[in-house]
Amino acid sequence: MKAKIVFHKDFQISSVDERIYGSFVEHLGRCVYTGIYEPGHPEADDLGFRRDVIKLVKELKVPLVRYPGGNFVSGYNWEDGIGPAGARPVRTDLAWKSLESNRIGTNEFAQWAKRADADVMMAVNLGTRGADAARNIVEYCNIPRGTYWSDLRRSHGYEDPHAIKLWCLGNEMDGPWQICHRTAEEYGRIAAEAAKVMKWTDPSIELVACGSSNARMPTFGDWEKTVLDHCYEHVDYISLHIYFANHENDTPNFLGRSLEMDTFIKTVAGICDHVKAKKRSAKTVNLSFDEWNVWFHSRDQDKKAEPWGYAPSLLEDIYTMEDALVVGCMLITLLRNADRVKVACLAQLVNVIAPIMTVSGGGAWRQTIFYPFLHAAKYGRGVSLQPAVTCGKYDSREYSGIPYVDSAAVYDEASGEITIFAVNRNLAEPMRLDVDLLDFGKLRVMEHIAMHNVDLKAVNGPGVERVAPCSVSGARIDGTAMEAQLPAASWNVIRLAPAK
Ligand code: AHR
Repeated sequence: MKAKIVFHKDFQISSVDERIYGSFVEHLGRCVYTGIYEPGHPEADDLGFRRDVIKLVKELKVPLVRYPGGNFVSGYNWEDGIGPAGARPVRTDLAWKSLESNRIGTNEFAQWAKRADADVMMAVNLGTRGADAARNIVEYCNIPRGTYWSDLRRSHGYEDPHAIKLWCLGNEMDGPWQICHRTAEEYGRIAAEAAKVMKWTDPSIELVACGSSNARMPTFGDWEKTVLDHCYEHVDYISLHIYFANHENDTPNFLGRSLEMDTFIKTVAGICDHVKAKKRSAKTVNLSFDEWNVWFHSRDQDKKAEPWGYAPSLLEDIYTMEDALVVGCMLITLLRNADRVKVACLAQLVNVIAPIMTVSGGGAWRQTIFYPFLHAAKYGRGVSLQPAVTCGKYDSREYSGIPYVDSAAVYDEASGEITIFAVNRNLAEPMRLDVDLLDFGKLRVMEHIAMHNVDLKAVNGPGVERVAPCSVSGARIDGTAMEAQLPAASWNVIRLAPAK
């Protein structure tokens, strides 16, 4: 089989906002406790954070981490997590039916993020709380000194403000599972009022309003429109969430799911622009895809979990080779929509539907999905180029016209390097890929990295890497024409640089 792609230096989608390589740490399962934090562990640093985990987070080049939830945030009193650790209350977390010790809170997480070279994207509770608690946490985190909350932070040992720039106005407020779920009218009003007082407290912050929890929600579309009718002028982004599953064990269909993500993005961008037009606004609201991943392996097991434990094992999906292909297609989709998606968070980062896993008291290891994320975060910085793809297509149970090759490319103007990301969705055959690279000057192939495994259900585990990238030979370039062979069912990264 053959595919052809044309890229031209001037056919640019947009520069890639590096925040699309964000991730997410929620007080859920073992994400925080025995994930990023495990005092007494041989790898624990002076604050109890696992150095081995921080090393892997840095390897992933995650620039931004959303915190503290997720569903958790809608019942969270942020004040429970500040001040002397021994005086903090144990609370019931109604979202995940667990106990929360509050040993880790805002200050500790800000310190962890600094050590991991990431910024914090902070979510406020618009479930059980409202505008008052939201403006107070902005004051606590961001005002240097001289007010009640900023001086309280200083008295807790944090002289410098945390300077958190990006804030989420609640989480998935359209979902009946959410603590204090709201209608679009109710949420739109509270989001607008919370946004006003948060920005009055610190005008430099940016805000994300809750969009739909997924595009299959019965309120999808109307929710975004109504919410933005209320808060358009007060917010900067609207959120999107999506998780893909393969319950039916139908791989060709599963590999087509990223088409749904693409439609979701374009539809929400359209709704934002509809509200913009109605309001005759000069401002564009962009998109924050602040939860995305594959999530289904652990669902049945989690239904049987005993409630009310501390840091129980929840949502510990073990990812397969085919999950990594879907994650690759999702990354490609984000890159091809770089003009509207300015923030995205792989949900989540450690142990909970995560690229990084830990054994309590033991080692940390990389899941299959670690690798496509790593490659995109490392090489996908620059300008996203518009691909003109010609290739065969197939139909599946739920989708039609799925291209066998899914691709995006990023051009780094400073170095002249181009990275082509491509998934070969053909499960049976390799794909000969011809790429025309117009107006970039003389190029050479630096490397072709691929990830594939004949067993699409192959997984990694502690000390076992069955799925990992390898180097592929044979990619070559002649003038403007590049040629490479994409293995069947593979993730590919082809890196080009100006010829010397
Ligand atoms: O990421 C896991 C959960 O998925 C989050 O808590 C919630 O926002 C979403 O439903």
